[in-house]
Amino acid sequence: MTIQDEIISTVSHEMRTPLTSIRGFSQTLLNSWDKIDDESKKKFVKIIEEQSNRLINLVENILTVSKENSEVLVLKKSNVNVLIDKILPLFKERFKTHKFILNCDKNILPVNIDEDKFQQILTNLLDNAGKYSKEGSTITLTSKVIEDWVTLSVKDEGVGIDEKDFDKLFKKFSRIENHLTSKAQGNGLGLYITKNLVEKMNGKIEVKSKSGEGTEFLIKFPIYNPEEVLKCSQKS
Ligand SMILES: Nc1ncnc2c1ncn2[C@@H]1O[C@H](COP(=O)(O)OP(=O)(O)O)[C@@H](O)[C@H]1O
Ligand SMILES: [Mg+2]
Repeated sequence: MTIQDEIISTVSHEMRTPLTSIRGFSQTLLNSWDKIDDESKKKFVKIIEEQSNRLINLVENILTVSKENSEVLVLKKSNVNVLIDKILPLFKERFKTHKFILNCDKNILPVNIDEDKFQQILTNLLDNAGKYSKEGSTITLTSKVIEDWVTLSVKDEGVGIDEKDFDKLFKKFSRIENHLTSKAQGNGLGLYITKNLVEKMNGKIEVKSKSGEGTEFLIKFPIYNPEEVLKCSQKS
C-alpha cells in the first residue's frame, strides 16, 4: 500500500464518526428548532464544535504526514505556558469527567518554537492521555526549567504501555493493542508526527510508562538563545 492509500483507508474511517455526529445534531436543530429548549440547543452546538475540532486535528495530522519532510516550520520566541492555557480548555471540555492538574512554572523561560506545531504536539499528547485512560482519572500537565531545557510533561493514570512496545509507539500507523484502543478512534499517526515535530524544533521526546499504571510523555526544548537564532539565520 502506498502512503496515500494507507492514509485514505485509515482516515476515511476515522472521519465518519465526527461527521455523522455533526450532521445528526445539525439536522435535529434545524428540524425541531422550536421544540428544543435553549439548554439543549447549547449542548448540541457544543457537540458540533467539539467534533469539528476533532476533524481539524485529524486533517492537520494528515497534512503533516503527507508533506513529510518538506514542511517549513516558523520558529519564534514563545512562552509554553501561554500556549498551554490556550489548548487546555478544549480538552477540559472534551474529556469532561477527567480531572486536570496544571503545574506551570511561573518563572518559565522562553523557547524557540513553531507555535502552531507546538499546539499540534500538545493536542496529540492530550488526546492520547484522555483516550487511553478511564473517565474520572487525572491528567497532569507540568512545565519546568531543567538545566538548559524547558520541559513539559503530560501524565495520565491510564492503561499504560509495555516497555517492549516503546519503539513501536513512534512508528507511522502503529497502534498498540489495549482494551481501550478498540474503543478509541485513532490511526497511529499522532506520536509519529509528534516526535518528528519535536525534533524539528531541536527538542526531545521521552516516554515513561508501565502497563496498567499510566503513562508520562516528556518533551523538552532548548531555552531560547538569541545568539543561536542569529547563527541559524546567518547560515542560510
Ligand atoms: N497516553 C497513552 N497511554 C497508553 N497508550 C498510549 C498513550 N499514548 C499512546 N499510546 C499508544 O500508542 C499508540 C500510538 O499512539 P498515536 O500515534 O497517538 O496513535 P492513535 O492515538 O491514533 O492510536 C496508541 O494506539 C496507543 O496504543
Ligand atoms: Mg493519538
